[in-house]
Amino acid sequence: MAEFSITIKGLSLKKSELAESDLALLNAAEEASKNAYAPYSQFFVGAALKLINGTIVLGTNQENVAYPSGLCAERVALFSAATNYPNETVHTMAITVNTAKAAISEPLSPCGSCRQVIMEYQNKQKSPIRLVLGGQGDTVWVFEDASNLLPFGFEAEYLKG
Ligand code: THU
Repeated sequence: MAEFSITIKGLSLKKSELAESDLALLNAAEEASKNAYAPYSQFFVGAALKLINGTIVLGTNQENVAYPSGLCAERVALFSAATNYPNETVHTMAITVNTAKAAISEPLSPCGSCRQVIMEYQNKQKSPIRLVLGGQGDTVWVFEDASNLLPFGFEAEYLKG
């Protein structure tokens, strides 16, 4: 038997300590969250991707009365970027949430499916996607590489014969 442990490397910052470009991206995500369609959860998520060429691509969660038909903000943004800018590299993704329903003191952490999708594009572009996670409070988490959020992700090599 062998025990192992995993280290997740990230930074916890106050908004005032963020780099100007990260704060601008987080503000764009916050602004986008106002366009979320979340009548069922009242959990309004905004995502803003910055591509290497400077373009910002936004996403918001889109819900549906048939619940599983909806989609998270992160995947809306990533799929939009992959559709409209298929050959551009994603530099940073900022994510935040607005909700009156829950008092969440920590930043929003993307769901498992979104992490898997973020990693798909990170692997495809062969360079790290930075994550800036905000929330209701003043704390922001920054990860320089999205792989920090997905230890033991499902890997492409598993499908190789
Ligand atoms: N949601 C996101 O948009 N991103 C996440 O990372 C977690 C959850 C959305 C999905 C649904 O519309 C609502 O938040 C509540 O789960």
